[in-house]
Amino acid sequence: MKQIPQSLQRYIQSIESHPEKITPQILEELLQQSQIDASDLIPWIDLDHPIADSYGRKMVYEGEHFEVMVMSWRSGDFSAIHDHGSAQWGVVQYFGELEHRCFYIKDGIMKVSKEEITVKGQINRVSNSLIHHMGNTTDQPFLSLHTYGTYGEKRPITQNARIFEFYNDEIQLTNGGVFFLLPDHLIHKRIAGIKADKITLQKHYYHLLMRAQCNLQSDETSNDERDGLKHISNNILKQIFSPRDHKLFQQDVIKVNLADGASCSNFWCRMEKKVNWQLLEHTDALDALI
Ligand SMILES: [Fe+2]
Repeated sequence: MKQIPQSLQRYIQSIESHPEKITPQILEELLQQSQIDASDLIPWIDLDHPIADSYGRKMVYEGEHFEVMVMSWRSGDFSAIHDHGSAQWGVVQYFGELEHRCFYIKDGIMKVSKEEITVKGQINRVSNSLIHHMGNTTDQPFLSLHTYGTYGEKRPITQNARIFEFYNDEIQLTNGGVFFLLPDHLIHKRIAGIKADKITLQKHYYHLLMRAQCNLQSDETSNDERDGLKHISNNILKQIFSPRDHKLFQQDVIKVNLADGASCSNFWCRMEKKVNWQLLEHTDALDALI
């Protein structure tokens, strides 16, 4: 049993003993008052997480109606687009500059609603309707602290979290980490997917591609898994980022950005840089496929 630092003990106790119904706003105030520092989270650091996990994830405290977790983000780690299942309230405190993007669904189409780079110590509220993803695009690892709760007892708190997997055109339900390329045994239900606009799809495919490439480079990946990952990578590059469609794609993204008024320039610059690199690396594979 890990020793829980005093700041975290204070925070957990303040939630347990709060006399009123907890809301994300109240939770944010309790977290602020607790003055938690990144160094308090070190006992739950998980930067050596398996390559199959998109980021590190450790439970700090599991109460009857809420849980507190520490997530560890290596450079390049990114969650899939997800919601939080049964969780009805929560907060996330970031201890680094995470890229964070929220989405909304209107008329059956998912779109980007907000993009930001978090600042150290920033707290974001979590509601039951939140759909988002986040990741580390810096070259430094860091941690984040997550609290999720329900009105009434429920375990695990984030059961039936939805992962929006556009590659397979499905929504995956899981009780664990919201990872890319989740193995079958961690998906307890699959339901029909929803559609997404072009910019959302590009973001999803870009991060899926990066994850597949990362797993391909790892010794932890088996030969069977490697074949599947190569197939996914080539498909994405061929269908989404092929040199043939690249100019058209650039124009489309610019048009979508202008039409939606979304601020996607950081993402676009990085994607352009990395995907170009990927295209060069995969020219042979693409030639064989096209
Ligand atoms: Fe989340």
